[in-house]
Formats: sequence, C-alpha cells, structure tokens
Amino acid sequence: MANILITGATSGIGRQTALELAALGHHIGVHGRSADKAKAVAGEIEQAGGQATVFLADLMSLEQVSALAADVVERWSRLDVLLNNAGLIQTETVLTEDGHESTWGVNHLAHFLLTQLLLPRLTESGGRVVCVASDAHYGASVPFSDLDGEGSYAGWKRYQQSKLMNVLFAAEFARRHPEVEVVSLHPGFVASNFGMNTGWMSWIMRLTRLVQLSVDDGAKTSVFCATTPTVRSGAYYAKSCEKTPSKQARSEHDAKRLWELSQASVAAWLP
Ligand SMILES: NC(=O)c1ccc[n+]([C@@H]2O[C@H](COP(=O)([O-])OP(=O)(O)OC[C@H]3O[C@@H](n4cnc5c(N)ncnc54)[C@H](OP(=O)(O)O)[C@@H]3O)[C@@H](O)[C@H]2O)c1
Repeated sequence: MANILITGATSGIGRQTALELAALGHHIGVHGRSADKAKAVAGEIEQAGGQATVFLADLMSLEQVSALAADVVERWSRLDVLLNNAGLIQTETVLTEDGHESTWGVNHLAHFLLTQLLLPRLTESGGRVVCVASDAHYGASVPFSDLDGEGSYAGWKRYQQSKLMNVLFAAEFARRHPEVEVVSLHPGFVASNFGMNTGWMSWIMRLTRLVQLSVDDGAKTSVFCATTPTVRSGAYYAKSCEKTPSKQARSEHDAKRLWELSQASVAAWLP
C-alpha cells in the first residue's frame, strides 16, 4: 500500500483517480480547497472500504501551499506518490494572493513549491511525482518576459503555457533529482468540471461533451503513471504510453530558466 497525495481530488479526473487508487488498496491524501467537497470524496473512499486523509489548501495562496506541505509532513511519516493534478483556466486576469497571474500561479507555481517542500518525504520513500499536464501544451511557449500576464490576456493561451510549464517542470525536476521519479501526462479530453466556471470555455465543454472521454477513462493515465513499476523519469505520457512532447517542452534551456524564475518566486517559502 502506498501513501498517495492528490491535489484537486474533489472533482473530475482527480476525484476519479482518488477513487480508483483507493480501490487498488492505496491510502489517499484527498486534497481540496473546500472542506465539504474533500470530506465527501474521503467519505466515498471510506464507504468503499478504503483509507483517506483530508488535506486542505487553496492553491491561490503560497502560504497555504506551505501550510499544506507542513500538514502532510506532520500527519504522514511516508509519502510515496505526489499527484499534481489540480488545475484551472481563467477568462480574465485573476491574481493569486501573492500577486501572480493565477493560471500559472496555481497550475505551475503552487505545485512547484509543494513538490519542493515534500521532496524530503518523497526521497525517503524513493517516491514519484506525477504532473497532470495536457496536450494543450503543443504550440505554446513560456512567456518569460510576461509570466504574470500583464500584457493582453488570452485565457486559453495562458492555460497552454501553464501546461507547457508542467511538462518542463517534470523534465527539469527529473534532471535535478534522480533520487525520485517524475513524469508528466495528458489525460485526454475529459468530461470533467474543467472550465465550467468560465463563460466561453464552459460552452465549448458543453458543446463537445459527445467527443469527450468519461472521467473513468480520463483517470487511466494518471493511475498508470502513479502505479506502474516502470516509468521513465522526465518523460511525458498519454494513453498510458510514453509520448514525445513539443519541441518547446524538450528545451533544457527553457526548463532551466523556468526553474530559476519559479525558484525566485517561491524563495520566501523555501527552507
Ligand atoms: N478535462 C480535460 O479535458 C483536461 C485535459 C487535459 C488536462 N487536464 C488537466 O487535468 C487536471 C484536472 O482537471 P479536471 O479536468 O479534472 O477539472 P476539474 O473537474 O475542474 O477539477 C479541477 C480540480 O482542481 C481543483 N482546483 C482548482 N483551483 C484550485 C485552487 N485554487 N486550489 C485548490 N484546488 C483547486 C478543483 O477544486 P474544486 O473542486 O474546489 O473546484 C478540482 O478539484 C487539470 O490540471 C487540467 O489542466 C484536463
């Protein structure tokens, strides 16, 4: 049995991944920003005979991310897998508590900090980090000169860039920390709650429901990457197979630059 922490386990792909990994006998850390939603998922797991622990934090706040990591370290003496799943898309500039544009702030920066803070626990167990990215990263490049989106705002473009950051982060983390395994993945186009809070995106999601995967199928690659004994650290997966990410996602130069800028942005919360 492994201890597996899943961010954004209260909805969609994260919730389904939590239920499936729990059914395989793993102890699930159900992370959410809403206590009611997180307790409901933990309750479902326990009713089915599984084991769950609720962890709360709004990833719009690096202080809460830091407190989340401290809570995990205090309550779990072992962490085998960190599944960085939570994600969002915005239609307009929304800033995090720390003043960062929230698409990269939540999708990348919060998980960058969480992973670093949990690295000692993951190292002790020879653990694994799984980052839920997206094929949406193809065609994107990192906006190094405007990470906080102060220029004109395009929600989909910001989302694509944040998912590219997930792939770059996994690859760079793997290079810097061979003591743990790190992969990123595309879950497929999935009928979750993703984008349902955003006007235009919610219409696209509603109009394309028929071609979307069920959340059961959407969770498959996450479950595969969390549990399969052999993954290639630093690689990108889709449909439970390794896939070549975009040229930009394979740039070691960009990965290093993003790492350094991210490190500077979270420096106040690092030991
Ligand atoms: N759906 C797709 O087609 C698709 C395709 C490629 C990649 N992905 C990726 O898959 C991942 C999961 O998305 P999904 O499709 O399952 O969407 P979803 O149903 O909207 O679930 C997103 C999860 O992230 C959580 N979350 C969002 N903002 C948060 C914050 N500030 N603090 C804490 N938690 C927060 C949500 O919490 P609440 O329940 O409180 O809202 C929810 O648990 C995302 O990283 C997304 O980019 C999705």
